[in-house]
Amino acid sequence: VYVEYLDYEAVVANGWELGDDELFRKARRAGLDEDAHGELTVEPGDYLLEAAEDEGFDWPFSCRGGACANCAVLVVDGEMEMTVDNVLSDDLVAQGIQLSCIGTPVSDDLKVVFNVKDLPGLEELQL
Ligand code: FES
Repeated sequence: VYVEYLDYEAVVANGWELGDDELFRKARRAGLDEDAHGELTVEPGDYLLEAAEDEGFDWPFSCRGGACANCAVLVVDGEMEMTVDNVLSDDLVAQGIQLSCIGTPVSDDLKVVFNVKDLPGLEELQL
């Protein structure tokens, strides 16, 4: 599974919007550092957070078990599935929020914004 990732910090720093259809196109054009934007491969069934760490990236996390929102990502395109019960409300999941420590991609391609733990609804779930 090919995952294109983008750091929410870069979204804010560039004055981009999460709902922007052109968001990832803008990120590609901006020539961001590899830790802020790029692509990684996740084997089926593997967790997104671990796959990012295997590539040497330092994505936020705390509990690694679905009990906080420190590792939250926003799925912009594609689909992920979480393997254990977790703190996210149905509403957050419906908005595309997933937890990367217990979340695995289930579509062939995935676009995610990581580091979204400070978004409304997630900040209060942080550990
Ligand atoms: Fe706490 Fe993922 S690190 S839910």
